[in-house]
Amino acid sequence: MEIKHGPLIYEGKAKRVYSTSSQDKVLIEYKDDATAFNALKHSVLSGKGLLNCQISAHLFNFLHQNQVPTHFLSLQGETWMLAQRINVIPLEVVIRNVATGSLCKQTPIPEGEPINPPLLDIYYKDDDLGDPLLTDSRLKLLGLITSEQRLEIESLARKVNELMIGFFNKIDLTLIDFKLEMGFNNLGKILVADEISPDTCRLWDNRSNDSNERILDKDRFRKDLGGVIDGYGEILKRIQGGADKAANAVNLSEG
Ligand code: TMP
Ligand code: ASP
Repeated sequence: MEIKHGPLIYEGKAKRVYSTSSQDKVLIEYKDDATAFNALKHSVLSGKGLLNCQISAHLFNFLHQNQVPTHFLSLQGETWMLAQRINVIPLEVVIRNVATGSLCKQTPIPEGEPINPPLLDIYYKDDDLGDPLLTDSRLKLLGLITSEQRLEIESLARKVNELMIGFFNKIDLTLIDFKLEMGFNNLGKILVADEISPDTCRLWDNRSNDSNERILDKDRFRKDLGGVIDGYGEILKRIQGGADKAANAVNLSEG
């Protein structure tokens, strides 16, 4: 790692955030801890930190290339990244393209049903309260963001969804749903923050028809399916293969 970290600012379930000598930058360390159901379930899965860090870095780079502002600045070795320091907005924005998870537990919508247009849900980020789903009026009542900021957050999340659907389709993966967190940087600009990884996205393998085998994300851990690291590893392998192909295409067209 090129840059030295300062004191620990925050430790979450899957990451540690450290200050740096620069006021507006932080170093983020991805841990091997896996938790689910608000940390009721916990394991340490060797290699998960590396996989999530590398996958997140690829996705943040891809979003950056497509004019989506994110906190990511650079990778710092296998499990660390440098990022802009932000004030986290305590909201979790979830977009669903296919019904599964809590949507199927809380509504009669059947598992696997396509959702078009994609459903956008906003949750209040608070482990003690169990990250409750917010209604429109509760979101307004909390007064965390203005109505303009809400529009910006929703349109950013929808843009991320459209971009990532295309990105994953090219490597035979279906983006079922995902969670984003956002924050304000020191100029008050809204950035996509936290991580974008198989911990925070559901990804199904288009190369499999088996309803368990096709799961490559944290549902393998939530549902005790085993092979969590293999699933995450397959996602990184395909992302890296896709990046190599794109680089070759550029080299060929330039050569
Ligand atoms: P859900 O179906 O459990 O509501 O999850 C929707 C998406 O959000 C799924 O991709 C997993 C992700 N997620 C998180 O990243 N963190 C969480 O704490 C939860 C509950 C879900
Ligand atoms: N992120 C939450 C936890 O760590 C829930 C989940 O991802 O299922 O407990």
